[in-house]
Order: sequence, then C-alpha cells, then structure tokens
Amino acid sequence: DGTGTAVNGTGSSHDGRMADGENAQTLTTRQGHPIYDNQNTRTVGNRGPATLENYQFIEKISHFDRERIPERVVHARGAGAHGVFEAYGKVGDEAIEKYTRAKLFSQKGKETPVFVRFSSVIHGGHSPETLRDPRGFAVKFYTEDGNWDLVGNNLKVFFIRDAMKFPDMVHALKPDPVTNRQDGGRIFDFMSNTPESLHMLTFLFSPWGIPANYRQMQGSGVNTYKWVNKDGVGVLVKYHWEPMQGIKNLTQPEAEAIQAKNFNHATEDLYEAIEAGNFPQWELRVQIMSDDEHPELDFDPLDDTKLWPEDQFPHLPVGMMTLNRNPENYFAEVEQVAFGTGVLVDGLDFSDDKMLQGRTFSYSDTQRYRVGPNYLQLPINAPKKHVATNQRDGQMTYHVDVAPKQNPHVNYEPSSLNGLTESPRAGADHEPTYQGRLVRQKIDRRGDIDFKQAGERWNLHTDLEKEDLVNNLCDALSAATKEIQDRMVELFSKCDAEYGRRVREGLDRIAHNPSAATSRYMGRRLRPAGKEAEAV
Ligand code: HEM
Repeated sequence: DGTGTAVNGTGSSHDGRMADGENAQTLTTRQGHPIYDNQNTRTVGNRGPATLENYQFIEKISHFDRERIPERVVHARGAGAHGVFEAYGKVGDEAIEKYTRAKLFSQKGKETPVFVRFSSVIHGGHSPETLRDPRGFAVKFYTEDGNWDLVGNNLKVFFIRDAMKFPDMVHALKPDPVTNRQDGGRIFDFMSNTPESLHMLTFLFSPWGIPANYRQMQGSGVNTYKWVNKDGVGVLVKYHWEPMQGIKNLTQPEAEAIQAKNFNHATEDLYEAIEAGNFPQWELRVQIMSDDEHPELDFDPLDDTKLWPEDQFPHLPVGMMTLNRNPENYFAEVEQVAFGTGVLVDGLDFSDDKMLQGRTFSYSDTQRYRVGPNYLQLPINAPKKHVATNQRDGQMTYHVDVAPKQNPHVNYEPSSLNGLTESPRAGADHEPTYQGRLVRQKIDRRGDIDFKQAGERWNLHTDLEKEDLVNNLCDALSAATKEIQDRMVELFSKCDAEYGRRVREGLDRIAHNPSAATSRYMGRRLRPAGKEAEAV
C-alpha cells in the first residue's frame, strides 16, 4: 500500500515475497536483486579495471557515501529511550481542569507514550559525555490530541533571555574558527559582556555543569509557557522533571577520571539500566503564576535567566514518566527524532517569553534542513493518531496523508467533494489583549537584576561545589585577556563579594604559576596575551 509497516520507529516496507533459492536471510540490493557475491567487484580479469555498470557496487558505495545527515547544530551528542507518562489527574492537590484542558493530564492513571532524548550541547556527535555543558532533556509525548514536545535542559535557567543573541552565544561556546578548539578566552569575552549569563555560569562551572549520567539529573522546560482551561483563561507555567534516582553531579577531577577510560559513560548507563529492567523515572512538576506582569517580583516571569522562587511558587506534581524500552536503531530513532518548542497540544500555549518564540521558529526550520521537509512522516516523529493534511509531495514523501474516506482528488479545503473538514473547537480560544509600541528593548527590572539570584546560588553551593566552581572558572578564565578577567571578577563580586574575591585570588595564583591551573581543556592560552585583540 506504499505506506510501509513501521516497527518501533524503524520499519520496513517489503511484503516478504521471495525468488527461487532465496530465504529470509538472503542479502539483496535495495532493488530486491539477490546478491551472490558481496566480496568482489566486477573487473575485466581479476587484475583488470572495474566497470561502471556494476549496479550492485554503485548502489552499495553511493548509499554509504550518504549515510550521514547534518548533525544537530547544537545538542549533537545524545542518547534516547522510549517510555510512558502516567498522569496523576490533578496538579498538587487541586483539580487540574481549573488550569488546563490538556487531555494528557486530565485523568488519574492516564498513560501517554513518550520518547526522550538526552544530550550535551556544544561538541560533535561522538564527543565525550563528561564535558562541562548543559544537558538536553527533550520529551515527545504522543498524545491522543497529537504530539507535545517539552524541549528542556537539566539546568533550570539559561545564559541569555533573547533569541537574537543565541547564534553569538553558541559561536562563543563552540570551538574557535581558527584553532578548532573550545577556548575560555572567547567564552568569557562574550559572557563578560552579557551579565544575564552570571546565574547560569554559577551553575555551569560548578559540578552541576557535569551531571554524573542522564538518569541522575533533573530536567526543566526553562522557558515560560501557558496552560489554558476550557474557558480560555491562561496561567503562566514552568515545567520541571525530578529524578526518582536522585541527583548526582561530578567535580572536574571526577569527570576527568571517567573520561580517561570511557567517553560514552552516560549513553552506556542509560542503555544498560533499561536493559536490566532498572527503569529510570522522573516526576513532572509545574510552577504556576497568574498571567500578568507581576510588578511585585524583582524578576520578570518571562526572563529565563531567573528561577521562580520555590517558596512562593511551589513545584506541584502532575505525573510520572518511566523510561522502559531502548531504541532498536540509533539512527532511525535517536538521530532522526525532531523536537520543537512549537509542538503543543490543546490546553497548552506559548507565553510572551521571546526566547521561547525565537526557539519555536528555529527547531522546525533546522529539522526541515537536517532531516528533510517530510521529517514528520518518519515513524519516530509521526503522531500516534489520525493524521490527515492537504500537504503533499516534497523530497522523500513516504506516504500521502489522505484520510480513509477522503476523495483523493481533493487536496484542498474548503471543498464540497468529500475533502477534509475542520475539527470542532475544543474550548474557548485564549485571546490575550495587546497594546504597546513596537520596540527593540531588553526585559529590564529595577537595577542589578542579573546578580541577585546568581549570588543566592553561590551561597547555596556546598563548600566542595564552591571550590570546584572557583577552580573551573579560573582554569577557563586563565585563557582570557586581563581586561576580560577583570570584568568577570567585577561581575562575580556584584553577585557576592566572597565569590569575586576567590576567583581573583585563583587567577592571581595561576598568573604567578601557570601550572596551578588544574584542567586545560578550555583553559590554555593559544596565542600570546594581547594577540587576541589584534586585527589579523
Ligand atoms: C536543540 C535552537 C535554546 C534545549 C536545538 C537545535 C536548535 C536549537 C536549532 C537543533 C534541533 C535539531 O536539529 O533537531 C535553539 C535556540 C535557542 C535555544 C535558537 C534560543 C533562542 C534552548 C534552551 C533549551 C534548549 C533554552 C532548554 C530549555 C534544546 C535541546 C535540544 C536543542 C534539549 C536537543 C533536542 C534533541 O534532543 O533533539 N536548539 N535552542 N534550547 N535545544 Fe535549543
């Protein structure tokens, strides 16, 4: 029927007929030709030139030449697993319908299949899993209303709060375009001019920047979303995943000891736990805030560089996720899976968080390039429900989205010839009112908003975390110019005087004795001081 049979995201479209002499294991070309010699190319005599009509060889080698697709521009290194989300049917102790009409949360015990991909961010597809980096935590819920993707990280805040800055931020964190090496001098050049990053940096350079594995880390949606109830009333929400396995992070020396022996430890840990039936679980918790500007708070609820204080906005449980099945094929499932922040179901909505809105364009844009315009027809990305569109054709069309009784001649709407029709409305639309001048301005609240929560985080770190944080910052900052170091120390001091003083002392130690720097992977200066600023 041209649609193929999809088995757990891999799938095969052959109908099993066999030619004489074939059995189920017989090797064939993609054209179905049985292959009787897979060792020798066809040549003129056994030492003679090869011929170009050799379909079998050309198909094999040219398919191999195309095995790779572009890796993700960020989050290239990852691991994935299938599982299930089970709803509690309430939010904390309250009826959940009060806040959202999303069906996946509505009844106690309701199960929704999920696929999760964990990742690190900056380096390539086979980079060590011990590197200092946020970890991605992306969940695809295959709900009865279509897919919902919650594309989060392990850390609850981010470096920047405007999507306009994202390509610059990533360029600063990625390897130097000349030396191809990650370089603390470039990272802190950017960050020292981006003070909203201080909160994230205070997590990232501490052991929180190297989770021990994927099972023992938290997840967070980071950006602010909305929930909408049946009357169309919205509230602001933040999502958090709490690991039932507990949280475990690594200091830099601990990470280096693992990396010396194993650069796949997190993938291995997840896969082996699931194979052994030791299924990891996370509880989904939400924070809720009324949908307005909240002038009483000293941060903006749409600013993703800030936490919503837990004492004012408690983390309310809504369900439990269990990962219970490994992928059957890494490429088909983990590499081709495509998550996006725009992928919401009825009852969930966007907020005006402009990072979130910028992200929402970026994900499906990159996936149309990375995987192809029909990426949503792949079994791992396709909703596990009725799909019927009037979208047609394009590269690698695998099947036509016609409904069983749809007139196949009608690929447009409206029509009176038995085409597709609109669905009934699920509830009142959420229709916020807007009035304002069109501006380019940053989210800004009273004074030094970027340092308070970073200082609080410094003070919440244990002594060991503080020590590791200062060492790691100093190692990486030792690659920066004096001017950048001074600017960073000034920013750390604004968070907390002790924080700034300890980084200053560490930098002075390394200046007097360069071997005092303990780790070197983003810390060693490749050019003499001052050269960075010279025009080439
Ligand atoms: C992946 C863009 C911020 C979490 C990606 C990808 C892009 C992207 C282009 C590659 C997607 C793909 O190839 O399938 C952006 C932009 C951001 C931003 C423009 C800011 C404006 C964030 C934030 C988070 C995040 C704040 C955490 C909440 C992730 C995750 C992935 C990802 C988890 C990997 C998804 C997967 O496993 O396939 N991002 N991102 N990103 N991003 Fe972002």
